[in-house]
Amino acid sequence: MRKKLLRTKAIVVHSNSGLKKCLTAFDLALLGIGCAIGTGIFVLTGIAAATQSGPAVILSFIIAGVASAFAALSYAELASSIGGSGSAYGYSYVAFGEFIAWVMGWILLLEYGVGSAAVANGWAGYFVSTLANFNIYLPEALTKAPVLGGLINLPAFAIIWILTILLMVGVKESARFNNIIVIIKLSTIAIFITLASMHLNTSNWHPFMPYGWFSTLENGKNIGVLAGASLVFFAYFGFDAVSTAAEEAKNPQRDLPIGLIVSLTFCTIIYIVVSALLTGIVPYTELNVSSPVAFALTKIGYTWASTLVATGVLAGLITVLLVLLYGLTRILFAMSRDGLISPVFSEVNPDRQTPTKIILMCGAIVSIVAGFIPLGELAETVNIGTLASFIMVCVGVIVLRKRQPNLKRPFKNPWNPLIPVLGILSCGALMTFLPAVTWMRFGIWILIGIVIYFIYSIHHSKLNK
Ligand code: ALA
Repeated sequence: MRKKLLRTKAIVVHSNSGLKKCLTAFDLALLGIGCAIGTGIFVLTGIAAATQSGPAVILSFIIAGVASAFAALSYAELASSIGGSGSAYGYSYVAFGEFIAWVMGWILLLEYGVGSAAVANGWAGYFVSTLANFNIYLPEALTKAPVLGGLINLPAFAIIWILTILLMVGVKESARFNNIIVIIKLSTIAIFITLASMHLNTSNWHPFMPYGWFSTLENGKNIGVLAGASLVFFAYFGFDAVSTAAEEAKNPQRDLPIGLIVSLTFCTIIYIVVSALLTGIVPYTELNVSSPVAFALTKIGYTWASTLVATGVLAGLITVLLVLLYGLTRILFAMSRDGLISPVFSEVNPDRQTPTKIILMCGAIVSIVAGFIPLGELAETVNIGTLASFIMVCVGVIVLRKRQPNLKRPFKNPWNPLIPVLGILSCGALMTFLPAVTWMRFGIWILIGIVIYFIYSIHHSKLNK
């Protein structure tokens, strides 16, 4: 009982942050859309279509979207009843206690850190193709990771440093800025949809499912619609950022569920339309390029639109990157404030009023990952972490219904525990379609986290004291 009270107290303390409550349901939905639409749809669609799903990448998006929807409903219940800006980390504290919360926070670090590196790679692809449209060509060795035959992906490395410096100087997320960029991003998509629908050639959709549902090749690579779904799932990572805005929402109990569900539904529709058109205007075999949407427009003769769209994508991906990098530092900050990692991570530079040390450290690590590891591998690593955190949120709903049946739940999932159980099953299934090497990386990451917990965190935890 005492422990339960302590846990609840920790969350209450965190939610009295004094942040301004100014976000409406509309802002929240745009926040989710702003964070979610990015490298997943603009780059991974091409890779997944060419190498895993064929035109049936549309089905991959639907499958990943359905799994995310169950998780979104579970997020909505916890965000409206528990709140706080810690998202899955905070909910785990309340539902399961400190150890699982630590593991959750540790997984979130992987998601946000590697996620930033993955989006930087997507950004780099469009940067290189935009330069090419102006007849500026970077040496190939400087645009590819070593395993792809290059030396370093310099644009990906550099964009992380530029944003790191921006964050250190004190750039804040601003709902207004986000709204403008979301509009640019959606206009970019609208241009693509309009032009692509005039050039649709349905014969490109045959064969629809060239790689079948699922199989593993000799080199360990998984192919098929289900493997594609576990890759393009990356496109849905980020909509849960809506739940981190709980402390800044005007009417969180009502607006958070609306924001989560609206942004997810909107993204799913956009993803289905864009992937259908992309594979409908260019043969899927040609789409394994670093900027498939721009490539497809050039291919059907719209070089000007290709440049315009690529520029829009560049702007759009910057916000995704900023939010992810910012989120990474915020999770570290929260874990440090709870005593689970060194207090150095919650030191704020008095002049700049930003945690400059963490930002610098995050920038250094993420830029190296972004420069040297290719996009596909990064995205799969992020996905296994995101799927694990979605599962934990679903389990959290079930556990809390049992442990705290009287907790006020302004948004309640019907037919409990059907939705969270479906979330656990569908996200769990998507995890199994990820390659063995991704599982191995994930396992090592968790093991390191557990070791750190027992060597350091358990002894310094403020909650334990
Ligand atoms: N979902 C985001 C993207 O696709 C992270 O870039």
